[in-house]
Amino acid sequence: MNSGFVIAAYILSSILFILSLGGLSHQETARRGNLYGIAGMTIAIVATLLSDQVGNYALIIVSMLVGGTIGAWLAARVEMTAMPELVAILHSFVGLAAVLVGFATYIDPNNHFVGVDKTIHDVEIYLGILIGAVTFTGSVIAFGKLSGRIGSRALILPARHWLNLGILVVCIWLGKVFLDADGTASGMWPLLLMTALALAFGVHMVMAIGGADMPVVISMLNSYSGWAAAATGFMLSNDLLIVTGALVGSSGAILSYIMCRAMNRRFVSVIMGGFGTTSSSGGGGGEEQGEVVSISAEDTAELLGGSDSLVIVPGYGMAVAHAQHAVSELTRKLRDRGVNVRFAIHPVAGRMPGHMNVLLAEAKVPYDIVLEMDEINEDLGSTDVVMVIGANDIVNPSAIDEPDSPIAGMPVLEVWNARTVIVMKRSMASGYAGVENPLFFRENTRMLFGDARDSVESIFANLG
Ligand code: TAP
Repeated sequence: MNSGFVIAAYILSSILFILSLGGLSHQETARRGNLYGIAGMTIAIVATLLSDQVGNYALIIVSMLVGGTIGAWLAARVEMTAMPELVAILHSFVGLAAVLVGFATYIDPNNHFVGVDKTIHDVEIYLGILIGAVTFTGSVIAFGKLSGRIGSRALILPARHWLNLGILVVCIWLGKVFLDADGTASGMWPLLLMTALALAFGVHMVMAIGGADMPVVISMLNSYSGWAAAATGFMLSNDLLIVTGALVGSSGAILSYIMCRAMNRRFVSVIMGGFGTTSSSGGGGGEEQGEVVSISAEDTAELLGGSDSLVIVPGYGMAVAHAQHAVSELTRKLRDRGVNVRFAIHPVAGRMPGHMNVLLAEAKVPYDIVLEMDEINEDLGSTDVVMVIGANDIVNPSAIDEPDSPIAGMPVLEVWNARTVIVMKRSMASGYAGVENPLFFRENTRMLFGDARDSVESIFANLG
C-alpha cells in the first residue's frame, strides 16, 4: 500500500483513539468510546498489514489467530471481579513485547543507522528495554497480588531505597557502556545485565507496595505500558505506536494522579512503597471496641420501608456476591414506594477504577442516582439509612480519627453520620488494606451478616 495511505490511516486511527478515550470517561458515552477504539484498532492493524514493510503474512496470520483466540476466550470467561488481574497481566505483555522488540531491533542485521541516528536509535533500544522489563515483572507481581496468589502486604527489604538507587546508578553506567560499544557485539552484555536488573527492580517495586496502594499501582503500570509501547514505536519507527503509547502513557499518568488524590497520597510516596506495613490499627487487637449489634433481613426491610432517604454504598463484596441485579431490583421497589434512594461511589471502591459504576450500569441502575463521594458525603448526615454492601476500607473512620492508621488521610465516605448504618458482610474480617474497622462497633451501626446477594434478596422478599 502507498505510504501516503498508511499515514492517512494512522492519523484516522489516532483520532479514533482520542475520541475513544474521551468517550470512556463517562458512563453514558462509554459504549461509543469502545466502538471508536475498536474501529481505530481495526484500521491500524489493516493499514500496518498492508504497508510495504510487512511481508511474512502466513506467520502473522497464524500468530493473530492464536493470540486472538486466547484473548477472546479469556475475555469471554473473565469475571468482573477478576478484571483488574486481567488488565495487569495484559500490561505485562506490553512490557514483554517492548523487551523482545528491543533485542530483536538490536540484533537486526538490516539495521543501517550511522552517526547521531545510530546513537539515538541505541538510546531508544536501551530505554525501551528498560521500561518494558520494569513493566513486565511489575505487572506480573501486580497480577499475583490482585489475584491473591501473592500476599497484599508490602515487602520491606532492609535499605531498600539504597538498593533501588544502586540499581538506577548501575543502569545509567551500563547505558554508557552500551552506547560506547556502538552497536558491536560487546554491547550485548550491558544490555542483558541492565535487563536483569530492570526485571528485578519491577519485582521489588511492586512487592514493596502495600494492598491499599494497589489502585495507584494499576494505573501507574497502565501508564508504564503506554510508555513501553511508545518506546517500541520509536524502535520500529512506527508513528502510530508512538502516538498510541503516548496516549495510554499520559492517560494512565492522569488516572494515577486522580487515584492519588482520591486516597490523599503523594505519587512519590506510593512509588517509594511501604504503605500498609504498619500493624493494623483502628480496632481489634484486644482493645475495647464496644459491641457489635447484628440485625436480621426482616428488620432491615422494615427499617428501609419506613425511611425517607437511603444511600447505598457498594464495595468489592457486592461484586464478589454478584449482588448488583438484586440491588437494582430492591432500589426500584423502594423508589416506587417513595424512598429517595441514591448510591455513593468511592473512587477506589472495588478493585479497579470505575468498578462499581460498571456493575451498577450493567444492572441498569439509573445514572442520575449514582453519585461520586464528593457529591454526596455532606448529605450523609441528613440521611435516614446508609446501607454498606460489601464495602469496608472506603467507609473506615480510622482514616479520619487515627493518625497512625495505614489508611490515615485517605478520604472516606462518612457513613457513620447517617441516622442508621447497615453493614452487609459475611464476617468481621478486614478489607483489602488489612485494617480493622471501628465503624462496625458504632452505636448506630447494625451488622447484617451473610452473602450480600442473599441478604439483599431476603430484604426484597421481606418488603412484601
Ligand atoms: P474492601 O475493603 O476490600 O472490603 C470488601 C468487603 O466485602 C470485605 O470486608 C468482605 O468482608 C466483604 N465481602 C466479600 N465478599 C462478600 C460477599 N460475598 N458478601 C458480602 N460481603 C462480602 O472493599 P472496598 O470497601 O470496596 O474497598 C476497596 C479496597 O480495595 C481499598 O482498600 C482499595 O484501596 C483497594 N483496591 C482498590 C482498587 C481500585 S482501583 N478500586 C484496586 C485494588 C485495590 P467479609 O469477608 O467479612 O464478607
